Amino acid sequence: MSEPQMAQVDSRHRLGTRPTGRGAGGEALERLPASVGAPRNADFPWDEFDTASYLRHNYRSLRSDDRQILELVRDFFADSLPAGGARGLDVGSGPNLYPALAMLPLCRTITLFEPSASNVAWLRDEIGDYGRSWDPFWELLCERSRYQEVGDPRQALADRVSVQQGSVFKLPRRGWDVGTMFFVAESISERPEEFEDAVRRFVGALRVGAPFAAAFMENSDGYDVGGRRFPAVAVEEGYIRRILETAATDLRLERIGIGSDVLRAGYTGMIVACGRVRAA
Ligand SMILES: C[S@@+](CC[C@H](N)C(=O)[O-])C[C@H]1O[C@@H](n2cnc3c(N)ncnc32)[C@H](O)[C@@H]1O
Repeated sequence: MSEPQMAQVDSRHRLGTRPTGRGAGGEALERLPASVGAPRNADFPWDEFDTASYLRHNYRSLRSDDRQILELVRDFFADSLPAGGARGLDVGSGPNLYPALAMLPLCRTITLFEPSASNVAWLRDEIGDYGRSWDPFWELLCERSRYQEVGDPRQALADRVSVQQGSVFKLPRRGWDVGTMFFVAESISERPEEFEDAVRRFVGALRVGAPFAAAFMENSDGYDVGGRRFPAVAVEEGYIRRILETAATDLRLERIGIGSDVLRAGYTGMIVACGRVRAA
């Protein structure tokens, strides 16, 4: 879809159904799924995602919300990862290395699965010798001894991580032992059915019993990156739980409210979900 067309799309398409009732002339209005006509994942210019702008805005320093997320995920993985040799998967990595750092201690390989050409180019360059801005993230992880045992995280990341260009909707099934997906499923489409599909495919890419962590923007109405508008589905804890519990056990969801350093307008918090893949 071209940008002018996208601008005309009704951005209020959300969960549920459009209002029913009667039109101005008294005729019955059709009951339609709220997402009909809403932009889908393929309608957005992901290859032109402004990696540098997103990185600067989100990860120039360790924010308090990311600190809380990282602590939760660190403790979950430190307590639950299998002992060594795991194959890790991070979906929709964008310019964010902290999910990969969180999986590092017990992974012999980590795949960063990302469709955007600009993000893929940045990731391939960054993993060889990552920038100093990630050091505070690693230091926080090292409050647990499993992370200290890694030794040199830059070398470990360079040795173990590879970048694969691809979409969550094309992920192979049951190929990985541990997974992360941060701010992706709800931030790549305005269609609830694509949000749900992305969550299920992420979980389906992991073997039965695999621990995973996923993070979501709560009630996001979309986001700007380098002057371009990207989509969102407004999600809350109950909706995320309903989708995840069909495929996961030991689910734990935590909501992180907006503190003094709000990231941007148009969201009400962040939600982290940790769990294990359930047998089909
Ligand atoms: C809001 S950003 C999140 C980036 C990063 N994971 C983070 O934690 O900041 C959304 C990411 O999803 C990626 N994305 C878009 N469509 C996707 C798809 N079909 N499959 C996987 N990732 C996708 C984008 O390129 C972008 O990197």
